[in-house]
Amino acid sequence: MIAKAAKVVELTAATVYQQEFTIRYDYPVYFTERVFDRDNPVLAHALSRRESGKRHRFAAFVDANVAASWPTLVHEIAAYAQAHADTMDLVAPPEVVPAGEQVKNDPMLVTRLQQRLGELAIDRHSYVVGVGGGALLDMIGFVAATTHRGVRHIRVPTTVLAQNDSGVGVKNGINAFGKKNFLGCFAPPHAVLNDFDFLRTLHPRDRISGIAEAVKVSLIRDAMFFEWLEANADALRECVANATSRMIRRCAELHMRQIAQGGDPFECGSGRPLDYGHWSAHKLEALTAHELRHGEAVAIGVTLDTRYSVQAGMLPAGVDERVYALFKRLGFHLWHPAMESRDDHGSFLILDGIEEFREHLGGELTVTMLRAIGRGEEVNNLDRGQIMQAMSWLRRRETGG
Ligand SMILES: NC(=O)c1ccc[n+]([C@@H]2O[C@H](COP(=O)([O-])OP(=O)(O)OC[C@H]3O[C@@H](n4cnc5c(N)ncnc54)[C@H](O)[C@@H]3O)[C@@H](O)[C@H]2O)c1
Ligand SMILES: [Zn+2]
Repeated sequence: MIAKAAKVVELTAATVYQQEFTIRYDYPVYFTERVFDRDNPVLAHALSRRESGKRHRFAAFVDANVAASWPTLVHEIAAYAQAHADTMDLVAPPEVVPAGEQVKNDPMLVTRLQQRLGELAIDRHSYVVGVGGGALLDMIGFVAATTHRGVRHIRVPTTVLAQNDSGVGVKNGINAFGKKNFLGCFAPPHAVLNDFDFLRTLHPRDRISGIAEAVKVSLIRDAMFFEWLEANADALRECVANATSRMIRRCAELHMRQIAQGGDPFECGSGRPLDYGHWSAHKLEALTAHELRHGEAVAIGVTLDTRYSVQAGMLPAGVDERVYALFKRLGFHLWHPAMESRDDHGSFLILDGIEEFREHLGGELTVTMLRAIGRGEEVNNLDRGQIMQAMSWLRRRETGG
């Protein structure tokens, strides 16, 4: 039987008033060093770029591990505000808040900080400045965006991942009910201040994990960047300054371009073009109770999906080996026992990540796979058997079993 097409009901102009408007967003992403050095003009510029000639009120929140690694930082922020008192008014001493993925798993912290913004009389013309890793910035951005329906926020990302990916984008959120980024919103920052100096105190694990997003975006967007990453893998692994800063700039550029020119900055459609390798990565973070860093899970997810693309006949054989070899040279471990966790019926839990990925956006399942190095391609169906084969391929390489 042929299904009849649903009839579109015509409504007259008297029945429906069509509302329509667009909002333009723009924000600068600065690249600087020693951002809170009183001679550095960047923060003053960021605060007053829209309305010059007034004192801008702001509250600052600092990642606890950043504060511990930079013991004078909190005083430097206060001293900076004092030195620039003509343009800014720091409403309270910068507050040190817990850090790492746990801050996205703690709804009480979000409530406490929203309440704190109320106590500090932060309004929609004031600013919230977050200084920290991607997790803290996702959470602080969410706090700012939901207080008074949207307080301006400025991000000072302090990890490789936050400088080259999460911090320069438009998404904010926290985890809830066992799901990554279940609660959140699209709220572009007012400005992003990337200070390369902060990266010096990162744990080696966090310096490396953020490079996974660079490999990801190079694979789907920029073949020459992928080759550059291969050629510079040793320098990147050792965190040689100029290689790392070049990688961060190119990666940030590619992410910013996708948001500005990709046609769907707030992801209203079904596609998540920048989330190559992420359907399994997000699930793996949850399955390992966040023992894996986001970047580490992304490295595994990207390797799996590259192998899948080869198996599916989309991508020439050998690219999978190249991607695997690059991640190994960069220092990634690409296996975690939780990848093989099963439910009571013996099904692999990682596969639930496919439906969760679809459900996060709604609509038809849309996953980016690889057609060539530098060229992603969306597919609407994943073959679970092929995924399991890709997992076996990776397990053999990583565990010998
Ligand atoms: N919003 C987005 O578009 C987007 C995109 C990608 C990832 N993310 C999110 O970003 C998060 C991961 O971010 P991350 O990799 O920065 O992890 P993270 O924020 O957990 O930081 C890693 C660790 O480094 C510490 N740290 C941060 N800066 C430091 C410094 N300069 N010196 C010493 N220690 C420092 C942190 O306290 C933390 O313990 C995940 O929650 C992920 O979901 C968001
Ligand atoms: Zn990511």
